[in-house]
Order: sequence, then structure tokens, then C-alpha cells
Amino acid sequence: MLNKIAVIGGGNIGGVLVHEIVSRKLARNVALVDVKEPDFAAGKCLDIAEGSPVIGSDVRVKGAKVYDVIEGADMVINTAGVPRAARPDGSLPTREELLATNLKITDFVSEGIARFAPKAIIISIANPLDAIVYRLQMNLKRDRATIMGMAGVLDSARYRMFIAQEAGVSVASVAAMVLGGHGDDMLPIRSACRIAGMPVEKFVSPEKLDAIEDRTRKAGGEVVKLLGSGSAFVSPAWSALEMAEAIIYDSRKIMPVSALLQGEYGVDGLFVGVPVILGKNGVERIIEMDLSTAEKAMFAKSVASVRKTADEVVAMKK
Ligand code: APR
Repeated sequence: MLNKIAVIGGGNIGGVLVHEIVSRKLARNVALVDVKEPDFAAGKCLDIAEGSPVIGSDVRVKGAKVYDVIEGADMVINTAGVPRAARPDGSLPTREELLATNLKITDFVSEGIARFAPKAIIISIANPLDAIVYRLQMNLKRDRATIMGMAGVLDSARYRMFIAQEAGVSVASVAAMVLGGHGDDMLPIRSACRIAGMPVEKFVSPEKLDAIEDRTRKAGGEVVKLLGSGSAFVSPAWSALEMAEAIIYDSRKIMPVSALLQGEYGVDGLFVGVPVILGKNGVERIIEMDLSTAEKAMFAKSVASVRKTADEVVAMKK
């Protein structure tokens, strides 16, 4: 059990994170910060705290609109951002405008972390994932073990769920790895997809696998369309907690994490989804998978888009 976990941004994902941390008793204290008026985070936390006797949890919950509430946190999970939504005049912000807004928010978040939780292990969820985690690192210059993005666990969970449904087996029997950036060219690694240790092709036809991999790449958008407003929030929160628990319990579980590469896979200075061992220090080790020639080419394409995003983030620096 940690002493304190801080959640930044108390919207849909942040809300699930706080109540899960309380019910799973992952820390003695959980703090939530959100700038939303009048004091959204305080309200959300009061609601959860008032329910805590019912579920028998003594985790202390505190929310505020100022960052001092996260003081001394051992772990920070970042969900702060604004979604793509119409302005009051009905027009939509361009992708660049939205990115600029979210980078400004990330600069604000960075200041809060630097000031109040300089030693915390950081797991960032906010989108665009590749851009936000890169900007956090530009600002905070962390040891790479202590800063990472959550994308691959969710993308792999989606892949596993679709495979389990198609094969008619438990999701627990399906293992999968989706690597690369968190965009349309993410890489579901078919050779790493196993059902109870057996190749997935034994259970699912190549045509079905193609369709499932395509659906996996577009899975976030599928949920957005169905919801009408907002985006997936339960599955991203659970995925970040899968990472948090591996760190909290020092379980050294291997999972795909957006980690800062320093020469691995021939990449330097970019956050890319790769298999890592997660333990008490955060990213304990990056594992270099043996990729086929086709997978290597797809990985390079994904890395190229991550690099393009990183260049944009650098160009938009203040
Ligand atoms: N500091 C703290 N919180 C902030 C800040 C800030 N500077 N700026 C915005 N927020 C808060 C908003 O007030 C909002 O409550 O971040 C919260 C984001 O919540 P939602 O809009 O409900 O978004 P959510 O679905 O939780 O997703 C959060 O994760 O998966 C990504 O695309 C998603 O980037 C989005 C993020």
C-alpha cells in the first residue's frame, strides 16, 4: 500500500480512478485535483468519502481545485485535458488548436507535479497520449523509470476481448501485445497473441484476425461514436490501475507501456509502446521483442508518427 496516490483531472476517468483506489485500498490517501468550478474535485471526493463506510474502506479522500492537495504523493495519474467539443458558436477547434490547449494544460500540470510531488511515479493517460507524455518529460526531465504513458494495456485489452469473443473462450485465456504509438498505426502483434499458450491462428481465421486488428486500431472511436459525447473511461481507468498495481505490489508484471526509449528498438528520446517490466521503481526494464520483417516495418511507421507528434510538441513550446 502506498501512502498517497494523486489523480489529476477528476472527470470521467479520474472519477473511476478515485473510487477504484478507495475500494481496492491501494493507498492510505488519495488526492484529486481538478480546476473545474465551483469545486468539482472536492464534491466528487466528498461523495466517494461518504460512501466509504458502506464498502468498509478507510482510505482518506481529498479533492481540491488547487494543486497543494497532491503534496507528497508517491504516484500521480494524469487525466487532465479538454475533449474535442463544439465552441458556443458551434465551430469545432482544429486538431492543432486542441493540441495547443491540451499542451497548455499539461504545462500547468507539470508545474503542479514539480512543486508538490517531485518524486512521484507518473502514469499519464490524457490524450493525445504520445504528445502529452512527451511534453511532461520535456518539462520535468525525469529518470525514465518514473514517467510513462498508458495506452498499450488498453489497446491490448480491446484486442484480447475481441479475440476471446470470436474464439468463444475466457478473456483470461488470451494474451496479447499491442505496441507502437497510441494512434491509427498502433501494432497488434499477432505472433504474440496466444490462447492458453497456443497460437491464436489455431482458434481464429486470418481474415477474422485482420478484421479484429482493424477494429482494435479504431476501438476508441467506436466507443466515442456510440456514446455521443465523451470517450471511453472505465477501460482506460482499469488499464492505468493495472499498471499502478504492478508498481504498488512490485509484481514485475510485463505489459505494453509507453516508455521513453534510449536506443532500444533503434529509437532515442521518444515515448513508444513497448513491453516493459513494471515494479516498485516504475519501468524496471524495457524488453526488446523479436519482430518479423513486416512487424518491424509497421513499428517504424508507428514510430515515425510518434516522432512527427513530438516535433509538433517541441514547435508549440510556449
Ligand atoms: N488541472 C486539473 N484538471 C484539469 C485541468 C488542469 N489544468 N484542465 C482540465 N482539467 C480537468 C477538467 O476539468 C475535467 O474534469 O480534466 C478533466 C478531464 O475529464 P473529462 O473531460 O471527463 O475527460 P476523461 O474522459 O476523464 O478523459 C481524460 O484521458 O483518455 C483521455 O482523451 C481522454 O484526454 C482525455 C483524458
